[in-house]
Amino acid sequence: MTEAIAKRRSIRKYDPAKPVTKEQLNQLLEAAMLAPSACNSRPWEFIAVTKREILDEIARIHPYAKMCASAAAAIIVVALPQPDMPAGFFPQDCGAATQNILLEAVAQGLGACWCGVYPREERMAEIAGLFDIKAPKLPFCVIAVGTPAEKPAQRGFFEERKVTYID
Ligand SMILES: Cc1cc2nc3c(=O)[nH]c(=O)nc-3n(C[C@H](O)[C@H](O)[C@H](O)COP(=O)(O)O)c2cc1C
Repeated sequence: MTEAIAKRRSIRKYDPAKPVTKEQLNQLLEAAMLAPSACNSRPWEFIAVTKREILDEIARIHPYAKMCASAAAAIIVVALPQPDMPAGFFPQDCGAATQNILLEAVAQGLGACWCGVYPREERMAEIAGLFDIKAPKLPFCVIAVGTPAEKPAQRGFFEERKVTYID
């Protein structure tokens, strides 16, 4: 099992004194952009935030992203639905990019938390307003990033009953 997959947990408490560097952020973003996407459409852009006031504002407007108040950074995954692609593909593509960021964060010794935005209309409107994201682009999710100040135990587990083996 890849170590980052086994170790990854959603981190909701961070050490606010420990910054995330631009190099670290770029590595997370490179991981995101290495994700697969339908027809290689790559329907994503990213906003990398380290400005404290904006992190605090995300925590204020998103009821389940309060951890951004202690996170050193946040990445907003912005989706760009492609007119020539079925609408169901972009959330899958952006989800794959998001998961790559979460795993790369673990590999770097950082923690992260995926905070859902799309498809909740009210959260999309708030985050779009904060970052001036205009249609056809839409905010897909917020990912809090920082040095963990908690160490939750592994949560995922293998459930063989959820597998159909066809030998
Ligand atoms: C689509 C999606 C949206 C999520 N939104 C939030 C959120 O808004 N706030 C939060 O604290 N966690 C959020 N999470 C994290 C889940 O709560 C978490 O992954 C789940 O409880 C399993 O825990 P683990 O990630 O530590 O394994 C989200 C996860 C996904 C995949």
